[in-house]
Amino acid sequence: MKTLVIVSHPYPERSKATKALEEIAATVPGVTVRNLETLYGNNINGFDLTAEQKAQEEADRVVYLFPIHWFNLTPMLKAYLNEVWAYGWAFGPDAAALKGKEMQVVTTAGASKFTYSAEGLIKSSMEDVLTPMKASAYYVGMKYNQPLAFHNAIGASDEAIAEYQKAFVTLLNLPLATA
Ligand SMILES: Cc1cc2nc3c(=O)[nH]c(=O)nc-3n(C[C@H](O)[C@H](O)[C@H](O)COP(=O)(O)O)c2cc1C
Repeated sequence: MKTLVIVSHPYPERSKATKALEEIAATVPGVTVRNLETLYGNNINGFDLTAEQKAQEEADRVVYLFPIHWFNLTPMLKAYLNEVWAYGWAFGPDAAALKGKEMQVVTTAGASKFTYSAEGLIKSSMEDVLTPMKASAYYVGMKYNQPLAFHNAIGASDEAIAEYQKAFVTLLNLPLATA
């Protein structure tokens, strides 16, 4: 089984949690990591479409790892979907490049789990916030796995980061869903 991890963080020099998760993913056998800002900076038009699409085609499971900023995807991740998930490749007549693959979202968030609840400040769940990823996955025929979200991730302690890494490795080693 091959796993592709697409990482995006607009401020890599300020990242602790995402960086630690990216680093641990790179040590797991069968996992390929591609960091959008490392490869392309913040150039929303600079993607190497052939390389990105090939990386997707070779994967059985695609993990998207990014922090929640203003309850949204990062700019480069959104741009990646715009450019890489192209008409005629990901969707459109006879286009089925991603069909049957698993999408796994892994995200870090500053706010607590309670904040992301109907009773919490934002009156929205993490599932609600991640709707664009879920809808996109289903639109191109992917399976959508339960997202893994790390809350309270601002200034997380080294112990907390180590726990995040452990949980991420466990998830990366899960077998593919059979359904
Ligand atoms: C510009 C900006 C916007 C943010 N917006 C949110 C937000 O909408 N919801 C939230 O839970 N955390 C928010 N945060 C906190 C980040 O999610 C948190 O800092 C990040 O997940 C920690 O991971 P990192 O160490 O890799 O940056 C925001 C942080 C920044 C810098």
